[in-house]
Amino acid sequence: MKHFLSINDVTDLNQLISNGIAAKRNPFADIELGKNKTIGLLFFNSSLRTRISTQKAAQNLGLNVIMMNVGQDGWGLEMEDGVIMNGDKAEHVKEAAAVIGSYCDIIGIRSFAGLQDREKDYAEIVFQQFKKYADVPIINLESATRHPLQSLADCITIEEFKIKQRPKVVLTWLPHFKALPQAVANSFCEWMNPMDVELVITHPEGYDLAPEFVGKGQVIYDQDKALEGADFVYGKNWSSYQHYGQVLTSDPSWMITEAKMSLTDNGKFMHCLPLRRNMKVADEVLDGPRSLVIEQAANREWSAQAALREVLLHI
Ligand code: CP
Repeated sequence: MKHFLSINDVTDLNQLISNGIAAKRNPFADIELGKNKTIGLLFFNSSLRTRISTQKAAQNLGLNVIMMNVGQDGWGLEMEDGVIMNGDKAEHVKEAAAVIGSYCDIIGIRSFAGLQDREKDYAEIVFQQFKKYADVPIINLESATRHPLQSLADCITIEEFKIKQRPKVVLTWLPHFKALPQAVANSFCEWMNPMDVELVITHPEGYDLAPEFVGKGQVIYDQDKALEGADFVYGKNWSSYQHYGQVLTSDPSWMITEAKMSLTDNGKFMHCLPLRRNMKVADEVLDGPRSLVIEQAANREWSAQAALREVLLHI
């Protein structure tokens, strides 16, 4: 059984990127692969892109799709083992995962970090429990610590738009008033590490990501210095990892503007979306020729298709 939970489940990244680009050129080449098979997409949190792109990719591969907002459409699920279930959770994941696994050949799950307990979030309990009890491949539609389908779409987008063999890619923290998880930033770093890119990460002090995700990335706390000569600027807000889940600052000088982008080498701007305009990124950047956010979001369909194809080949 092959899961798709992180880059550790990818055997050949270049091939996977090529498969995504191939799917974009010929979306229905593998329509027989998923015939008479079913994927269940379980959302513990909101989504626009992941929900629609994964459904579309699954349909391109001939899969039947069942979608569920867990906790809204179904019973609240208890994830901890051995607890007395006298609270608001009516069903245990042991039964729920086993039952859903009996209906579906693949299960995709979105479950964000709670941002209260770092150890618990980074243990990825929801995914571990489904892996243990569902007995079918599990796809990560964004977990507490990672968003691999987004990262694969980001790799595809960089591959398509790079004009240098080894582009400079800068991940920059963006200001936001609300605490957001580290998943997209973690995952982006994790996927950029094996890519042939110069990876620079910039954020205010106190926002360092977990070292296992930073890898070869060079951390520069001065955003202007970090942006110098960048070919791609990848914006994202995240809350503190060290002071777990806290918003330490929302300094507006970290917002990406045209003046900031002029420090780059005619760099392109990327963001996974959704984003709050003129809080994180100025209209002038998002509406201008540097922005790749729509192309990047469109590539979510092809990253999902490449990942699902890989999983289907191993069922
Ligand atoms: N980028 C992303 O995952 O978008 P959604 O939250 O809308 O799925």
